[in-house]
Amino acid sequence: MIESGIVTVSYIAATILFILALGGLSNQETARRGNWYGIVGMAIALAATILGVVTQHYTLLFVALLVGGSIGILLARRVQMTQMPELVAILHSLVGLAAVTVGFANFLDSSVHFAGVERTIHDIETYLGILIGAVTFSGSIIAFGKLSGRIGGKPLLLPARHWLNLGLLLAAIWFGREFVLQSAAGGGTTPLILMTIVALLFGIHMVMAIGGADMPVVVSMLNSYSGWAAAATGFMLSNDLLIVTGALVGSSGAILSYIMCRAMNRKFINVIAGGFGTGGGSSSAGGEEIEGEIVAIDAQETAEMLQNAKEVMIIPGYGMAVAQAQHTVFEITKALRAKNINVRFGIHPVAGRMPGHMNVLLAEARVPYDIVFEMDEINKDFPNVDVSVVIGANDIVNPSALEVPDSPIAGMPVLECWRGGTTIVLKRSMATGYAGVQNPLFFKENTRMLFGDAKETLDAVLKLL
Ligand code: TAP
Repeated sequence: MIESGIVTVSYIAATILFILALGGLSNQETARRGNWYGIVGMAIALAATILGVVTQHYTLLFVALLVGGSIGILLARRVQMTQMPELVAILHSLVGLAAVTVGFANFLDSSVHFAGVERTIHDIETYLGILIGAVTFSGSIIAFGKLSGRIGGKPLLLPARHWLNLGLLLAAIWFGREFVLQSAAGGGTTPLILMTIVALLFGIHMVMAIGGADMPVVVSMLNSYSGWAAAATGFMLSNDLLIVTGALVGSSGAILSYIMCRAMNRKFINVIAGGFGTGGGSSSAGGEEIEGEIVAIDAQETAEMLQNAKEVMIIPGYGMAVAQAQHTVFEITKALRAKNINVRFGIHPVAGRMPGHMNVLLAEARVPYDIVFEMDEINKDFPNVDVSVVIGANDIVNPSALEVPDSPIAGMPVLECWRGGTTIVLKRSMATGYAGVQNPLFFKENTRMLFGDAKETLDAVLKLL
C-alpha cells in the first residue's frame, strides 16, 4: 500500500501526461511522442491504483490483468492496419460494458451506504453510468459489425423510427425517476434492468439506422460516449483520475465528431437521430444509367502521362491501405520530383476507415508533410493540375455528392479532381466504395481507369519511370 498523498500526486502526473498525449496526437510530427506520454501516463495510473487504491482481492486483480493484457497484446499484434477501426469499435464496447457491470456491482454492493441527498446523487450517477455504458456497448458492437462487413452497410429504416427513439428516451427518463424513488426505499432493481434493456435497444437502433458514408461520425461519437461512460464510472467509484480521463476522452471525441460532421456537411443531431446516408434510392446512387464510357489504360500509358505532366495530385483512399501501396507511392513521388514535376497529395477528411488514416500511412512511408494537403486547402487548385492519380479511393471523389440531391452522399464535400486535366483511377473493378454508390467520375471524358491491385499496378508504373 502507498499513501493517499502519493496516489494523488501520481494521478495529477497521469492527468498531465494524458493532456500532453492528446496535444501530441493532434499532429503527425508529434504523434509518436504523444503516444509515449499516454503510455507512461497509463502505467503511472495503473501502478498508483493497484498499489494505493485496491486493498483486497489481489490474486483476482492480477489474473484479470494477465488475461486482459494477453488478449490485448494478441489482438494488437494480429490486427491489420485496415482493421483498426473495427478494433477501436470493439474496444469502445468494452468501456461501455465495464460501465454497466461496475454500475450494477456498485448498486448491489451492500457495503456502499449513502443517505438523503447523497444517496439520490449516487443513484443518479449509477443510473447515468449504466445508461451511457449500455448505449455505448450495444452501439459499438453494431458499429464493429458494420465496419467489419459482418452487418450490411445499408441503414435500417424502421417506420416511425424517430417516434421509437423518442419513446425509448421517455422510457429511460421514466425508469430513472422510478429507480431513484424505489432505491431510496431499498429497491430499484427492476427499473434499472428495464432501463438497461431500453438503452441496449437504443444503441442498436441508433447505429443500425446510419448509412455507409456517415459511419465515421458514429464511430467518433461512440468514442465520445465511451469517455462519458468512463467518467460516470469514476463518479460511481469516487475515482478522480477516471473522471478526468473519461471527460478528456468524452470531450475530445465530441470535438472529433463535430469536425467529422463539418467535413461531411452533416448536422450532428441528424446523424444521431439516424436515417442518414439513405438517399432516395434512385439516381446514380443506385441503378440509374450513368452517361459516358469507361476508358481503361495500362501502366505504360500511365507512366507516360505522369512524365509529361507538370502538376500531379495524388488522392489516396481506402484501397491504398488495402493494397499497402504507400511505399511504392512515395517511390513514384520521388521519381517524379526528380524530373521537376510538382507532386502533391490531397487528403479527404474521411478517406479510408478512420480519422487520419491516410496521414498515418503516408507518414509511415516517410512522405514529407509539406506536400500533403487537406481537402479544403487543395480543392481550388484542381484546374491547374495536369494529372490526378486516385489510388483506391471512390466515395471521396464522387461528383454525385455535389450533383445528385437524393444521393446517399449528397452534400458531402469531395475532392473535385475532374476539374483538372486527366484523372487516372486505380482500382480492381467497377465495384462501389463504402457508401455503395456508383461513381460518375469513372465515366467522365477526362478519366482513365487503371484496373488492378494498386500495389501491383504502381510497381509496374514505378519500373517504367
Ligand atoms: P471507398 O469509397 O471505400 O473506396 C475504396 C475503393 O478502393 C473501392 O472502390 C475499391 O474498389 C478500391 N480498392 C480496394 N482494394 C483495392 C486494392 N487492393 N487496389 C486498388 N483498389 C482497391 O474509400 P474512400 O474513397 O477512401 O472513402 C472512404 C469511405 O469510407 C467513405 O464513404 C467514408 O464515409 C467511409 N468511412 C470512413 C471512415 C473514416 S473515419 N475515414 C470510417 C468509416 C467509414 P475495387 O473493389 O474495385 O478495387
